[in-house]
Amino acid sequence: MLGEQHRRIGDLVADIPGLLRPEDELKLYELAQQTAGPIFEIGTYRGRSATIMALGAKAGQGALLISVDVDPKAQRAAAAALAAAGVADNVLLVRGSAAAALRVLPGLAPRLTFVDGDHSADGVRSDVAALERAIPNGGLLLFHDFVDPRNDNPDIEDIGVKAGIADSWVARECDLIGEYGVCGLFRRREGGEVGAGPPVIDARWRDSLRMQYLQRLRWPAARAARGFLRRFGQSDS
Ligand SMILES: C[S@@+](CC[C@H](N)C(=O)[O-])C[C@H]1O[C@@H](n2cnc3c(N)ncnc32)[C@H](O)[C@@H]1O
Repeated sequence: MLGEQHRRIGDLVADIPGLLRPEDELKLYELAQQTAGPIFEIGTYRGRSATIMALGAKAGQGALLISVDVDPKAQRAAAAALAAAGVADNVLLVRGSAAAALRVLPGLAPRLTFVDGDHSADGVRSDVAALERAIPNGGLLLFHDFVDPRNDNPDIEDIGVKAGIADSWVARECDLIGEYGVCGLFRRREGGEVGAGPPVIDARWRDSLRMQYLQRLRWPAARAARGFLRRFGQSDS
């Protein structure tokens, strides 16, 4: 049975612009609520789906949502919407493509990913390629507009979700679990052997030149010298 917030999720985000169907919204909330985390979203826009997932995650297992978008103006609106819904603390917004975000966050292994950025075949292909190394076995992928007749019309280049998935690792290594609203839900069956441990952000390039010198040169050199002395100093004694 649906909880009160789950049932009313469409009303709760009614003021946030977006193109989701009620069935999409119910599924996003449910998946986020059940996900142990982390959750990854490609295409924040004004934050409608992000707010739904963050509310679901907060009501469920507290998974962190990381949402990426290339449009700074839309993301500023999303930040305001997330704050207004009381879930700003549950979300990390990243400016850039999925590929860039996953480069910045090596080790991120999303348990749930909502793919809703560039819907052209090439756009979906790029996002799917970027996700290949990140999605663990058992990880869920929800593709928006997977169930859309425009996918089958070669004259409409904006919508190529099915073409973007065809021949990819998603087609080979994932099972289609079901269709919800206009979304297709896949679960990775194999090929997703990702390392254990949390993602590590390398922020050294934003350090002062002195800190960069210490971290890149002086400390590694001192460590190497200590190792050398331990190995060869001991054998002399
Ligand atoms: C359909 S909207 C997302 C809607 C949002 N998921 C929701 O339901 O509220 C698509 C968004 O994807 C963004 N976008 C387009 N290409 C992208 C890319 N290559 N990487 C990340 N985001 C992209 C656009 O700026 C736009 O905000």
